[in-house]
Amino acid sequence: MKKIGRNDPCWCGSGKKYKACHEALDEKIARYAREGHIVPRRDMIKTPEQVQKIKESAKINVAVLDYVAERIRPGISTEQINQWVEEKTREMGGIPAPLGFEGYPKSVCTSVNDQVCHGIPSEDVILQEGDIVNVDVSTIYDGYFSDSSRMFCIGTVSPEREKLVRVVKESVELGLKEVKPWGFMGDMAQAVQQHVESNGYHVVREIGGHGVGIEFHEDPWVGYIGKRGTDMLLVPGLMFTIEPMVNAGAADIFVDDSDGWTVYTEDGSDSAQWEIQVLVTEDGCEVIAY
Ligand code: MF3
Ligand code: CO
Repeated sequence: MKKIGRNDPCWCGSGKKYKACHEALDEKIARYAREGHIVPRRDMIKTPEQVQKIKESAKINVAVLDYVAERIRPGISTEQINQWVEEKTREMGGIPAPLGFEGYPKSVCTSVNDQVCHGIPSEDVILQEGDIVNVDVSTIYDGYFSDSSRMFCIGTVSPEREKLVRVVKESVELGLKEVKPWGFMGDMAQAVQQHVESNGYHVVREIGGHGVGIEFHEDPWVGYIGKRGTDMLLVPGLMFTIEPMVNAGAADIFVDDSDGWTVYTEDGSDSAQWEIQVLVTEDGCEVIAY
């Protein structure tokens, strides 16, 4: 990192002198780094202006999920969800981030039952009473990114499925409680993992969360298998997703060769996921999208 003079303008673009802006924070982070901790790079720290823009994007993301929530029911196809996402996102001036992302063909991911993630909406997938489905929405607004997903129970579902969906949501909430400045990513991961495993489920290891806001997927990579006090130091301005994928059976997964996207549980067991976008603040955290 380039050395900035104390009276120079701060690197964050606030226009304030460095000494009156990020200097103290940078020094504190440097102390943790010297002690051997993983610390975020400067470009992972969002400025208040960026946070404001990302929140506008998130407003659309949340509205789109609410729009889906009001309409989803047995008998509809997952392509119908794709059209709702298109409709509502464009109406609010946004762009669905998944469309064309690394060649992804649709505007949303819809993952049903044993599909872990990246399920591609289709006319041929009709939601049946008893299904559980994850709807993963991501939005670009004025160049800023938001990302969150929810589970939906279609009609009445089995107690086993209902419990899986509930426990994964609880695990995200327990993880969220650990998100605060000068804590660690591992504090969050351990809380998620413990709740998931104490219910007999398993966290998917290969796919995790991510930094988000300026890009769809930024550093850091965020896993949900971890130990308290380890992994990246959490500092104000860091923004990332908590989005554990949880299998009722074994953690193993595979990607469908025929579409190159859809991820399934290896053993055919059910899988569930909730995703929130969270910002570390001066005194805790703020949920940006849910
Ligand atoms: N929305 C997913 C996430 O939570 C990413 C989907 S990538 C796509 O990170 F291309 F499949 F859309
Ligand atoms: Co995500």
